[in-house]
Amino acid sequence: MFHTITPEIQKRMDYLYELDQKDRKDGTAKLKRLRQIPPETGKFISLLFASSPEGIGVEIGTSAGYSTLWLSLAAKELNRKIYTFELLEEKIKLAKETFNQAEIEEVVKLVEGDALKNIEKYNNISFCFLDTEKEIYEECYEKLIPRSVKCGILVADNITSHYDALKPFIEKLLEDSRVDALVVPIGKGELVCRVL
Ligand SMILES: C[S@@+](CC[C@H](N)C(=O)[O-])C[C@H]1O[C@@H](n2cnc3c(N)ncnc32)[C@H](O)[C@@H]1O
Repeated sequence: MFHTITPEIQKRMDYLYELDQKDRKDGTAKLKRLRQIPPETGKFISLLFASSPEGIGVEIGTSAGYSTLWLSLAAKELNRKIYTFELLEEKIKLAKETFNQAEIEEVVKLVEGDALKNIEKYNNISFCFLDTEKEIYEECYEKLIPRSVKCGILVADNITSHYDALKPFIEKLLEDSRVDALVVPIGKGELVCRVL
């Protein structure tokens, strides 16, 4: 997957990476910032998606589609789709531009609106990347687990970077008998769960 990234995907990855770096330095307001994952997390989640069982891929929190670009590598490899959920108009516009310019519209479906409502329309989830507001992680998780296939994989981002805010969520998942869970110190900290 990593050896066959198309020039179109690479170009958009580089562009969004620079934009995100700029956001972090120039005091852009939180809602406007892209708040993207670093490249090593992109590689990690695409490897996990590529290793997931039969089913659909889901991402909660698209932003401008940087993490989706990484997930699209696995979607192509598996001949599956990734459904990515985004609420904000401005981000939706950027994400559409990303999917068009990177030529990945065939494998990516952008679901516009509140993921908490829209996720209820999806089942047979074999992979999920959860990267939205930390206040709704638990509610998303509770909607995702019953809709996931056995041995499906769920990855939650920002586990070490937002440890204090996410502590109750992390402790709950590590104790949850519906999953096997582990914190992986890569990027901003990833909580990886395998659905039992
Ligand atoms: C941390 S950013 C996602 C970054 C992206 N995964 C990446 O690495 O490129 C979180 C995104 O979740 C979106 N979001 C927040 N609440 C949401 C909701 N209820 N439904 C869908 N998206 C939501 C935000 O607008 C924001 O773009």
